[in-house]
Amino acid sequence: MRDMERTHLSAQVVENRARQSQTTAQLFAGYLRTRVDRAYVDQIIPRTFLRDDGVKLFSLWGSLYRESFSVQNFWTVNEEPDLTETVRWGAKLDERMRMGKAAAKVAEAENNMVGFCYVTDEYSKNKEPFLTIHVREGFRHKGLGRRLMEATIEDCRGIFDAIKLSVLPKNKNAKELYLKLGFVDIGMNDTGKYERMKLELRRS
Ligand SMILES: CC(C)(COP(=O)(O)OP(=O)(O)OC[C@H]1O[C@@H](n2cnc3c(N)ncnc32)[C@H](O)[C@@H]1OP(=O)(O)O)[C@@H](O)C(=O)NCCC(=O)NCCS
Repeated sequence: MRDMERTHLSAQVVENRARQSQTTAQLFAGYLRTRVDRAYVDQIIPRTFLRDDGVKLFSLWGSLYRESFSVQNFWTVNEEPDLTETVRWGAKLDERMRMGKAAAKVAEAENNMVGFCYVTDEYSKNKEPFLTIHVREGFRHKGLGRRLMEATIEDCRGIFDAIKLSVLPKNKNAKELYLKLGFVDIGMNDTGKYERMKLELRRS
């Protein structure tokens, strides 16, 4: 019972902190350089996702949501991100990581989240571990996505036997990256819209 109360309280504390710092996060987002060179991005070392990262994640998802309206979008963000929901989601991901049921890495620049990669078994139909990755526009094509994925996959060894992901066939950059990291095609998903890919982690 005490443990449950502690978990509940800490989630509440995180939410309150998130509300207070929402304005700060928006200010930071305004200051973030949007065009950076390779040398700048090379200095960014992915680190493990932390429970308090929800506010920064909200800012990253906000930028992806705005970007997903562009004509050449390769992914869909259906709903405008909500701060409280994002913070709750982040706290839950942190809990899953502590239980050894998820892995997640983030990339930061000037105190902003510019990249996020996570694997969790929570949202797939058959409870299969699925990988998701996003790098903020302006920071792409400079090696950050690869570093984020490599670090996340490393954390998945010993937790999961295999990882899956879905990608739109026209998202060629993403697919190229997945192939280079050893993912193989396993056919289209049920809707026929997304290609599914799989990476075996079990050592033979
Ligand atoms: C897909 C995504 C995560 C890749 O991250 P990134 O930081 O741009 O990728 P990297 O710079 O690490 O590139 C890794 C590999 O991808 C491929 N790649 C990247 N940019 C490319 C480009 N412009 N043209 C062709 N291939 C490219 C290359 O094979 C590259 O290999 P290399 O490391 O040997 O050079 C990023 O572009 C992104 O967030 N896109 C929008 C969101 C999205 O599509 N998410 C995936 C949904 S399935």
